[in-house]
Amino acid sequence: MRVRSVLFGITLAASMSAAVAVALAHGGATGIVRERMDAMTEMARSAKVLAKLFGSNSNDPVVIEEAAGVIQRHAGGALLSLFPEDSIKGPSEASPAIWSDWQEFSALALDLRALATALPDADQTTQKGIFTEIARTCSGCHERFRRTMP
Ligand code: HEC
Repeated sequence: MRVRSVLFGITLAASMSAAVAVALAHGGATGIVRERMDAMTEMARSAKVLAKLFGSNSNDPVVIEEAAGVIQRHAGGALLSLFPEDSIKGPSEASPAIWSDWQEFSALALDLRALATALPDADQTTQKGIFTEIARTCSGCHERFRRTMP
């Protein structure tokens, strides 16, 4: 069980650092595209903190609350407001499907917010499950709505 949790943490931490490395490659973005890249990068930082914590089976309520708070603040309506119609320019990886499938895109943003809101108050076992769902929501949205740069 302990080995499995450690592996879980390492896998998540690795995928989160890959996301952060991609973020650094996007320095040329401006305006709202830049704003949402920064918001996403902040969420990635917090997700990495949580992945490490849950992966090592430690419990630090203050850190959890802080990291979940960052994700919560950037999710839901805040996330959606950073995607005005057809805002794809410069190095943006946003897919046009965001606006043709706004309902699905919004649902993922709202799910993320609900999960991040629930995280701090859940018991420790439930917290791990919620965090797994958070990570799935991030990657689910990216698979569907983020184009890979050529
Ligand atoms: C509702 C959809 C959605 C959710 C949920 C979502 N993202 Fe994103 N994310 C995107 C889109 C779309 C982009 C591409 C934005 C662009 O390039 O204009 C992106 C880009 C990113 C980037 C790259 C930023 C950059 O500088 O290019 C990172 C890192 C990232 N997301 C992390 C996360 C993490 C971590 C989570 C979950 C805690 C998350 N995202 C949740 C849609 C989402």
